[in-house]
Amino acid sequence: MKHLFAAVIAIFAALSAQAQVPAPVQMTRMEGAPNTSRELSRKIGGKAFARKTASLPAFAWEEAYELTLTPKGYKVEANTETGYFRALQTLRQLDGCAAVYDYPRFQYRGFMLDISRHFRDKDFILKQMKALSSLKINVLHLHLTDDAGWRLQVDSYPKLTSEAAWREGATWKEWQTTGRKYSKEGAPEAYGGYLTKADVREILAEAERLHMTVIPEIEMPGHSREVVFAYPEVGCREGSYELCPGKEATFTLLESVLEEVIGLFPSEYIHIGGDEADKEHWESCPDCQARMQAEGLGSVEELQSYLVRRIERFINAHGRQLLGWDEILEGGLSPNATVMSWRGTKGGIEAVSQGHDAVMTPGRYCYLDKVQDAPLYEPEGFGGYLPLDVVHSYDPLQDIPEEGKSHILGVQGNLWHERIPTPEHTEYMMYPRVAAIAEVGWSQPENKDGFLERVTRWNDALIADGYNAFDIKKEYGERPAFKSGIRHKAVGKKVTYNTTWSGYPAAGEATFTDGIGGGWSYGDGRWQGFLKAIDVVIDMDEVQDIHFVGGTFLCEPGPDIFLPKSVEVWLSEDGERFEQAAVIPNEIQEPSQSYVLFGTPVQGKARYIRFVAHPTRGFQFLDEIVVN
Ligand code: ACM
Ligand code: ZN
Repeated sequence: MKHLFAAVIAIFAALSAQAQVPAPVQMTRMEGAPNTSRELSRKIGGKAFARKTASLPAFAWEEAYELTLTPKGYKVEANTETGYFRALQTLRQLDGCAAVYDYPRFQYRGFMLDISRHFRDKDFILKQMKALSSLKINVLHLHLTDDAGWRLQVDSYPKLTSEAAWREGATWKEWQTTGRKYSKEGAPEAYGGYLTKADVREILAEAERLHMTVIPEIEMPGHSREVVFAYPEVGCREGSYELCPGKEATFTLLESVLEEVIGLFPSEYIHIGGDEADKEHWESCPDCQARMQAEGLGSVEELQSYLVRRIERFINAHGRQLLGWDEILEGGLSPNATVMSWRGTKGGIEAVSQGHDAVMTPGRYCYLDKVQDAPLYEPEGFGGYLPLDVVHSYDPLQDIPEEGKSHILGVQGNLWHERIPTPEHTEYMMYPRVAAIAEVGWSQPENKDGFLERVTRWNDALIADGYNAFDIKKEYGERPAFKSGIRHKAVGKKVTYNTTWSGYPAAGEATFTDGIGGGWSYGDGRWQGFLKAIDVVIDMDEVQDIHFVGGTFLCEPGPDIFLPKSVEVWLSEDGERFEQAAVIPNEIQEPSQSYVLFGTPVQGKARYIRFVAHPTRGFQFLDEIVVN
């Protein structure tokens, strides 16, 4: 018994000494009580360590470190101050004696904060930088401008803040549904704010101390409603909210803004957005058409490319590099641009196959605005479900052809803020998932085991430090129907479709009888989506007693997914003459995210079961038709 007890303690000590996030390359536990407060030696730029790390890629060499923690104190070796700083982050998490040798897998380990949709001030940003740097995250990407508010002081265009940093509607949703009105600082209903240049300098000084880069994003030519509101001369015409690439006034404004941004932020990369521009107005704008003619541009995509290329020349002339969302590939990528791949991995694949660099932020793994646990128990998200383990399962090199892998700079988690009204909620969405992003970016894949245990310890410490992190110990997890499947009499039976799905095929004609339930997310490939009625017939192979027919529908108003208005169940013995067995009305008045069974007991004999769901509006999503 005594021996067993000792063995348990030894194992526990081994685990806790190794409880690091992100997991290091090598860690060896040693005996004794650690002394973390005494630095025994610090060798930065030591010859022996430089030799030991000589074969690493340059970026990994720069951040590599060796840390030894003993009962007497700790020793650090590193090639640079950055490596030394990373070692100290490891030290803070150690609670046993250990020897650590470590370096990053990727040079870019980022987190994006959207401070346009809901403003987050300097103090909030500084607080998050502290937690991010403890995870060895080395890039903070600030989404500074968007329709819902401009968030950076610009001296040459002061109306960007005086007119467009304030709005009516404390929440984005309220603003969105009440006519998207802007307001003025100090007005009673004004919600908003912006970072002054002094705020930015403070953030940048802290970033330097934390060996972190802050990348500013100035959106163009889409997501620019606030710019066109403050300076209508840069839009195509009234009612258009994208910047007009036909007008010189647009370039005068953009270059002037970028000149100030470049003067303020020292980062190599300047992010210019480029996503989701609605190019429709460009088709009928005389200035846009004149530009297309003069420049020989064959499409509005090429017109966007023209804008991006021109902006890239400006940015390059100032010694910086252009970074943009993957839409900048459309119409031709500018010569030196780096692509941020968000619509899956294909933007990244295309960029690296053209010899460009890419940062991977695919929505399926990196969009932290999705809820992280059962939506029934979570605050409203933007749509979709992204639990910690799925974020952690991502490999930025997956899908990337061998010859392009060296062009993948790394990974970034994005936190869009449409549905995140409070700072507490921001922290809740960030942690602990951003720790998974950090590990995806820093750790070698073979060292990623035991993450849940390690991250729980890190997250508990964060909560104790005053952060409103999601308590991963209380995670409910995936939908039971997804994890365990659904057993019923129609599994494997043939289904004939009288109507067909729209864009969300799931498993095609097998979907409703494959015994596999959908998860919390409509986009997980197990829910079939319809923009019209669902009308299908299940063939049970032989006439039999039927007692129950039903299906669970997913409702999620954000992405326009609603419950059926009613569901009808029809039975037939011969497949020709059907009798209505039941009509199930929708009795839910106020739709919110939910999973609602439209099922009914029936009494009858049948070989064929016809299941019809009439839409209310938008999409209907169904995963299985259960027959018993
Ligand atoms: C994006 O999510 N629109 C980049
Ligand atoms: Zn135009």
